[in-house]
Amino acid sequence: MQRLLLHLVLLASFVFLSRDVYAGITSSFVRSEFPSVDIPPNHPAFAVPKGHNAPQQVHITQGDYDGKAVIISWVTPDEPGSSHVQFGTSENKFQSSAQGTVSNYTFGEYKSGYIHHCLVEGLEHSTKYYYRIGSGDSSREFWFETPPKVGPDATYKFGIIGDLGQTFNSLSTLEHYIESEAQTVLFVGDLSYADRYQYTDVGLRWDTWARFVERSTAYQPWIWNTGNHEIEYFPYMGEVVPFKSYLQRYTTPYLASKSTSPLWYAIRRASAHIIVLSSYSPYVKYTPQYKWLSDELLRVDREKTPWLIVLMHVPLYNSNEAHFMEGESMRVVYESWFIKYKVDVIFAGHVHAYERSYRFSNVDYNITTGNRYPVADKSAPVYITVGDGGNQEGLASRFRDPQPEYSAFREASYGHSTLEIKNRTHAVYHWNRNDDGKKVATDSFVLHNQYWGNNRRRRKLKHFLLTVIDEVVSI
Ligand SMILES: *[C@@H]1O[C@H](CO)[C@@H](O)[C@H](O)[C@H]1NC(C)=O
Ligand SMILES: *[C@@H]1O[C@H](CO)[C@@H](O)[C@H](O)[C@H]1NC(C)=O
Ligand SMILES: *[C@@H]1O[C@H](CO)[C@@H](O)[C@H](O)[C@H]1NC(C)=O
Ligand SMILES: [Fe+2]
Repeated sequence: MQRLLLHLVLLASFVFLSRDVYAGITSSFVRSEFPSVDIPPNHPAFAVPKGHNAPQQVHITQGDYDGKAVIISWVTPDEPGSSHVQFGTSENKFQSSAQGTVSNYTFGEYKSGYIHHCLVEGLEHSTKYYYRIGSGDSSREFWFETPPKVGPDATYKFGIIGDLGQTFNSLSTLEHYIESEAQTVLFVGDLSYADRYQYTDVGLRWDTWARFVERSTAYQPWIWNTGNHEIEYFPYMGEVVPFKSYLQRYTTPYLASKSTSPLWYAIRRASAHIIVLSSYSPYVKYTPQYKWLSDELLRVDREKTPWLIVLMHVPLYNSNEAHFMEGESMRVVYESWFIKYKVDVIFAGHVHAYERSYRFSNVDYNITTGNRYPVADKSAPVYITVGDGGNQEGLASRFRDPQPEYSAFREASYGHSTLEIKNRTHAVYHWNRNDDGKKVATDSFVLHNQYWGNNRRRRKLKHFLLTVIDEVVSI
């Protein structure tokens, strides 16, 4: 009896006392970098494909809620040409076809090429498709693979890239990302940095960027999100409608998640439910985005998609001097929901560095209470900032000192991340600094699922032990 009691007390103290140690790391690593200047427009990285009116700037994204459709987009420079996509499951045999739409736009004096968007639907899961766009000698062929059917144990490898731009550092990030063999990019905003230019160069730099990323975007979906560099509010040249270039060029399957704006939406892919939020669209109570998010969170079914991932541009937890506190207004509005619905991980960009948090929250604080410090919270998401794609603005290397308790790891280098979902309980996360070899992950950890993972089991165990101790004590 006594031995049993001792045993139970030991076990219980293990469960109650074993805590993570909140000591963060500020990496002192200083990586040599390419100068933070854009690649010249005539560089081979932006090569124009051969042939009259050949399709260029090819990119694909998920086209529906569950991954049985893609939207294929491209630009023809000289004339509208065809918006037809031919596709099929074996090379050179295109049994099926779909018809898209074409449009163009002006931006100041700039006139865009002909922008095509084509929804290809009714696809099989886990299947490789080949597709052809353009006509005659100028036609081009690519391929993509559809994700597995949505289900709790579907494995999948996501890449996460933010604030990419079009410098030699951006090229390095892209090349390293492609080596990772991840299957879909979760992009956290700030695409081309074309807004750093003026007049017709703005449009031209959107074109170079889309040709630059085509090496990846033509072959796998990039799940798009906007950042401040997509706003493009330029009264000096009469362009004042936010997100104009972005919305013309990049489409999202927002209707499939009952959203009313391409800027916020959700998809389900393999075992993940991915929610994309717009940091630069209204999000406070009563706004469309707020209403939509409250409805979408109710649609999340962790029995089907154990992994709940949120993407936004501005980080809610950021201890860098750059953009410090900019995420605070959204944190006040949404943080309690992220905890209530047990979001696994929130990826953001904006800050040109890497930072990962422990599970912390600050929901007890409001303007009438004094608890104003973030506290460890097992129900909170992990916050990861990956605004380190390599754009022309350079690195954000001034971290606040001392490192706050919530900050687990931070380093100002360029890179990309991957999240490899193994099953419903485990996912392996890696942050990869650009000049490290493929096998050297600079920061990595195992993400335990918030719904299926350790916490739940631990709570059950704790409850069980309390019951047993109660019983033993009352004997
Ligand atoms: C291109 O834009 C012009 C002017 O906005 C318009 O007249 C024309 O129909 C457009 N062409 C296509 C193919 O959308
Ligand atoms: C403010 O904080 C107090 C104490 O935690 C809590 O009772 C109250 O509901 C909070 N108010 C709001 C509007 O969150
Ligand atoms: C889930 O994956 C992890 C890591 O690969 C493994 O240790 C664990 O046993 C797996 N769980 C199940 C239920 O397959
Ligand atoms: Fe940004």
